[in-house]
Amino acid sequence: MSNAIAKEVAKRRTFAIISHPDAGKTTITERLLLMGQAINVAGTVKARKSDRHATSDWMAMEKQRGISVSTSVMQFPYRECMINLLDTPGHEDFSEDTYRTLTAVDSALMVLDGGKGVEPRTIALMEVCRLRDTPIVSFVNKLDRDIRDPIELLDEIEAVLNIKAAPITWPIGCYRDFKGVYHLQGDYIIVYQPGHGHERTEQQRIQGLDSAEARDYLGDDYDNFVEELELVQGACHSFEPEAFLKGEMTPVFFGTALGNFGVDQVLDAVVDWAPAPLPRPANERQVEATEAPFTGFIFKIQANMDPKHRDRIAFMRICSGHYEKGMKLHQVRTGKDVRIADALTFFAAEREHLEEAWAGDIIGLHNHGTIQIGDTFTEGEKLGFTGIPHFAPELFRRVRLKDPLKSKQLRQGLQELAEEGATQVFFPERNNDIILGAVGVLQFDVVASRLKEEYKVECLYEPINVWSARWIESDDKKKLEEFRNKAVENLAVDGGGHLTYLAPTRVNLSLTEERWPDIRFRATREHH
Ligand code: G4P
Repeated sequence: MSNAIAKEVAKRRTFAIISHPDAGKTTITERLLLMGQAINVAGTVKARKSDRHATSDWMAMEKQRGISVSTSVMQFPYRECMINLLDTPGHEDFSEDTYRTLTAVDSALMVLDGGKGVEPRTIALMEVCRLRDTPIVSFVNKLDRDIRDPIELLDEIEAVLNIKAAPITWPIGCYRDFKGVYHLQGDYIIVYQPGHGHERTEQQRIQGLDSAEARDYLGDDYDNFVEELELVQGACHSFEPEAFLKGEMTPVFFGTALGNFGVDQVLDAVVDWAPAPLPRPANERQVEATEAPFTGFIFKIQANMDPKHRDRIAFMRICSGHYEKGMKLHQVRTGKDVRIADALTFFAAEREHLEEAWAGDIIGLHNHGTIQIGDTFTEGEKLGFTGIPHFAPELFRRVRLKDPLKSKQLRQGLQELAEEGATQVFFPERNNDIILGAVGVLQFDVVASRLKEEYKVECLYEPINVWSARWIESDDKKKLEEFRNKAVENLAVDGGGHLTYLAPTRVNLSLTEERWPDIRFRATREHH
């Protein structure tokens, strides 16, 4: 049995794409599915994007969320591997979900727009990857357009993202002069053939930069390219698998997702270099993926097609062992055992009922309000997986009820929505206000709409003078008590019962931090 587990685990690659909006995540996702024969013609995933720009129109959002339940995890075979690709929500606003999705992967693919380089969202997502030293493969996209100087792009990756960049391929021209890429180690050119963006094509290679064929193919550009390469080989890092696995170095590929060029090399890199399911830290011990007993944790909860039925899907990353249909799982937080007969798998773009799954895979459980983000499931062992963070919200609103008699429903609704991760809720110590915190402004619309639909509570939002929130911790009980008394004006308890400091301004926060050196002000908090 454990041999079978080891074999299946070794085959798994579970990763997500990190990028700034418009860098090409959707396009590359499609090309990856095409590569994995999960779809036959590119253009299928794209359809759902039309909803994306309907920003704060909740119904459109809900529709999109419904559809994307099935596309937020995509499993497909590639070469000898089984790939699990986790989609991160397309909407710029839904960043908390994106962050938590990154806790469920073993590696990430960073997609950069070659014309733009490193953009703000990429920086933010890289910071999250860094929390777990997630190995990153990089893809510089849109070579069929004018891009920035590739050497400058690598410098920018190194300087801004603080990671060594090792080019695996090097682009030969760009835009109309884009001829393909040169594989530095393999000493071959992969020829770019435009017009094959929507189908699987065979790579056409020219072996040896020194060959007559290569000289012929590059023509007048040949000498310049050879000169550029000398510079690149002198100045750039060569790839070290160890450094990659530690998250200290990223292999860099060039191509065009739209032209379906270079995407296969990226997927090969994931298969060849990215780690199989890694051991996971839990509070009690480290759990190896190849252990026979089943373990997993919930990293995301998503409303299903019909929000009125409150049927939600809880996404679980399997951390060890093997899932079989009908098996009994122990939910550690509640101490309850549940038989899981109808878990979902996400093979290709369809939802299918699942017979079995292995460490590294993602399964979907129907959730009727009993499952929370961060929950650990086992075959009986008391374990709590760590590293599923809450992020300090950046936007705050005070909630006001339209009908004051509904305050019980409001609290219950907010508590549940907070547990699900749709928003964060804070109860100030000094009054009866309820404050909502979000990372993206759209979250407020979603919460208001869901409160109305699912809890029959109508609410209004008012602006409030809070700049940021920090979770409070201290080893010094006396100092903590003193702080609680002195800072009561700005203290609140969050939905999980954790003490939080609501800072009215950035200056206030830094002064308070200076004044209270024995108190830790944390910008992230783990689920418990
Ligand atoms: P995202 O999910 O990261 O937001 O990006 P998406 O794939 O939707 O790509 C954003 C835009 O960039 C799209 O154009 C897409 O066609 C284009 N794009 C992606 N990869 C390439 C590439 O390799 N070369 C070129 N030239 N363009 C690329 P759009 O006009 O916004 O959308 P659409 O009208 O084409 O659907």
